Amino acid sequence: MEIDRNVYWVGILDFPERDFHNFTTHRGLTYNSYLILDEHVTVVDGVKHKYVKDQIRKIERYVDPKKIEYVVVNHIEPDHSSGLPELAKIANPTFVCTKKAKEGLEKYYNADWNFKIVRSGDELKIGENTLRFIETPMLHWPDSMMTYMVERRILFSMDAFGQHVASEERFDEDLGIEEAIYWAKVYYANIIMPYANIVLRIPKIFEKFGVNPKLIAPSHGVIWRNPDVITESYLKWAKFEAERKAVVIYDTMWHSTEKLAFAIADGISSTGVKTSVFNVRKDAWADIVTEILDAKAVCIGAPTMHNHVFPPMAGFLTYLKGLRPKNKIGAAFCSYGWGSGAYENIVEVMESLGWEIVEGLQVQFRPSEEELKRAFDLGVEIGKKVLEVV
Ligand code: FEO
Repeated sequence: MEIDRNVYWVGILDFPERDFHNFTTHRGLTYNSYLILDEHVTVVDGVKHKYVKDQIRKIERYVDPKKIEYVVVNHIEPDHSSGLPELAKIANPTFVCTKKAKEGLEKYYNADWNFKIVRSGDELKIGENTLRFIETPMLHWPDSMMTYMVERRILFSMDAFGQHVASEERFDEDLGIEEAIYWAKVYYANIIMPYANIVLRIPKIFEKFGVNPKLIAPSHGVIWRNPDVITESYLKWAKFEAERKAVVIYDTMWHSTEKLAFAIADGISSTGVKTSVFNVRKDAWADIVTEILDAKAVCIGAPTMHNHVFPPMAGFLTYLKGLRPKNKIGAAFCSYGWGSGAYENIVEVMESLGWEIVEGLQVQFRPSEEELKRAFDLGVEIGKKVLEVV
């Protein structure tokens, strides 16, 4: 479809996909690719290899693919780059990318292709239009960049501002702004959150390189006709602005830790703080970290097994540690049989994230009535702390 005069979306809707390297995608995926018909035919971003023939079929509706002269590679992760070898075979275009991207493409695909290496501020005239390139290393890979179509004010922002959702709607308003922001939030929490400090620099980067988009066209999901809505949301998320929310996350072997989780959640919600409860073996981690993003308090509980935290929770803690959520109040709660370990493992992760730790609780075997009361009181204490600061 034409998203602007002579600029076409030639991407893929991957409706059935439910897993993006362990990121549960409840509504599927998109791989966005854009075709610009100008004096020099240009494609911006590729698609996953299994769909490249579909992409080429879409390009054929508008132009002979052999006429593609430039392929802009904003990012080399295989969801965007694994179809590129096929484009190279058909069109032998010049691949326009950062130095790091060239190195990565050579390593991934033994790419003996024509390359044009660009740096921030470089421009490429493709006819009546000009493409300006802006390197955005570690947003979210070292090779990442954005491409700004100067005269049209279209920003091809690669993964940044994207959403994992497959829908026939191509624009934010058509999907519904609220829904588009929701999927962007899920995406941000699971992919972009560790790079919050770079996100905070986006306004300055835009100003420096004269980027004032009327459209933001990411490499996943819908296109933003309301760029301010998504850029302002990104800044809010990058500042870890919290709501009056708490999240209780747990795993359990024989329901002891589960009883503590429910009692703590009851205590928190009795203070009026919105509380969600997740089980790491039953709920998608992508959903859990989305809730953590703007929650003020996070309580994590698990049993001890062989002197360590219960393995499924260990996996979740590793995921959480990598995503680096900040500005939280944390509390651990655990059950054990004859030796502890889980409590220490959980607190260690919370400390590494710089969270304010509230002393939690551990119980042996089953929680007694008195211990359940302590768990409820812990929840009340956490709820009051949230209300003090949010
Ligand atoms: Fe959509 Fe980082 O790849």
